[in-house]
Amino acid sequence: MIICHCQSITDRDIRAAVDWMRAADEDTLITPGKVYRALGKKADCGGCLPLFLDTMHQCDTFVIPMQRRVERREKSKEVSDEGRRKGYRVP
Ligand code: FES
Repeated sequence: MIICHCQSITDRDIRAAVDWMRAADEDTLITPGKVYRALGKKADCGGCLPLFLDTMHQCDTFVIPMQRRVERREKSKEVSDEGRRKGYRVP
């Protein structure tokens, strides 16, 4: 089924792009812009975006697995001090 009439993108194209991006990087956030770029196209009128997003959400590989999210959150906590000493004070 054609999802984007301006660029002739089908639901199969979107699913293939989402699967490909997830296989290439398990942690990546997949956005409509990235899907367009992966397909070598660019949004024109934007009228398809609600259906485009629904199609993306229906993909099994769209969501980052919970275990990866937890690992990412813990990594961000480790580097939250920006390398400053704890006793640092501005005079
Ligand atoms: S229908 Fe998709 S950009 Fe216009």
